[in-house]
Amino acid sequence: MLKEGSIVRAVEITERKPKSWIFRLENEGEKSTHLGRIDHDKIIGLKYGQVISVTKGQIMLLKPSPRDFLRSFTLKTQILYADDCAVACSVAGVGNGMNVGEAGTGSGALTTFLAWAIAPDGHVYSFDINEKHLRNAEQNIQMTGLQNNITFQVQDIRESFNVPLLDAFFLDFSTPFEAIDSIAPTLIGGGHFICFVPNWGQVEQTVEKINQNLALELQQVFEITRRDFNVNPKKHIMRPKFRSIVYSGILIHAIKILS
Ligand SMILES: C[S@@+](CC[C@H](N)C(=O)[O-])C[C@H]1O[C@@H](n2cnc3c(N)ncnc32)[C@H](O)[C@@H]1O
Repeated sequence: MLKEGSIVRAVEITERKPKSWIFRLENEGEKSTHLGRIDHDKIIGLKYGQVISVTKGQIMLLKPSPRDFLRSFTLKTQILYADDCAVACSVAGVGNGMNVGEAGTGSGALTTFLAWAIAPDGHVYSFDINEKHLRNAEQNIQMTGLQNNITFQVQDIRESFNVPLLDAFFLDFSTPFEAIDSIAPTLIGGGHFICFVPNWGQVEQTVEKINQNLALELQQVFEITRRDFNVNPKKHIMRPKFRSIVYSGILIHAIKILS
């Protein structure tokens, strides 16, 4: 049952590309859209999946996923795509109750996936060298309702830092190979080190550094690809889209070993 404080994704019902809005329900709250005003009071008491009428159309009330949140974020940096975030989480087996770290925070895209996966009992320690990026990500995360599961901290991750022992650490910035020695001590035995880089030179330098570090054991290096389809049975169209993102980067995975 939707109540005050529930987060809703309202999606326009239309033949064209639908618009959608994410908001937290408040007593007497309202959301202005091109379809007219959405009164929160008319939604409170309904269920996810229900359809309601507004002045100029109809909207579905859905529960937002991490992927949906990213579309509403203010971006101050390049972000990790949702598919890459999801695969990174699955490689490290991120789940409820785990403590994980990440750097840099960027705009908070990966942070959202991590917090979604570890909630309600786990915690994300998110570090960025740039305070402005950190504050923007903190602002973005407000709409997810996951802020109590995240600690944001200004930190150059290449230097040693204090954090409780972590189940996994994720790096997404241009020189992860400079942070291998500061990240390895933060991981529990069997903990996962994951980094994401777009250039093959960065892969080579990072793998070289992992191999030099006696506490880390390289597991896998791979690329994540996705092919979107145009599907319209009425027009007998079913084929890959002509335009799509063909490359985002390479994931490097190592685990912590105890000597
Ligand atoms: C590509 S963005 C990360 C995007 C983020 N994963 C997301 O999904 O929104 C890279 C971030 O790394 C931060 N950064 C760069 N060097 C860093 C360092 N040495 N320590 C911590 N953060 C760093 C930058 O300030 C920037 O915000």
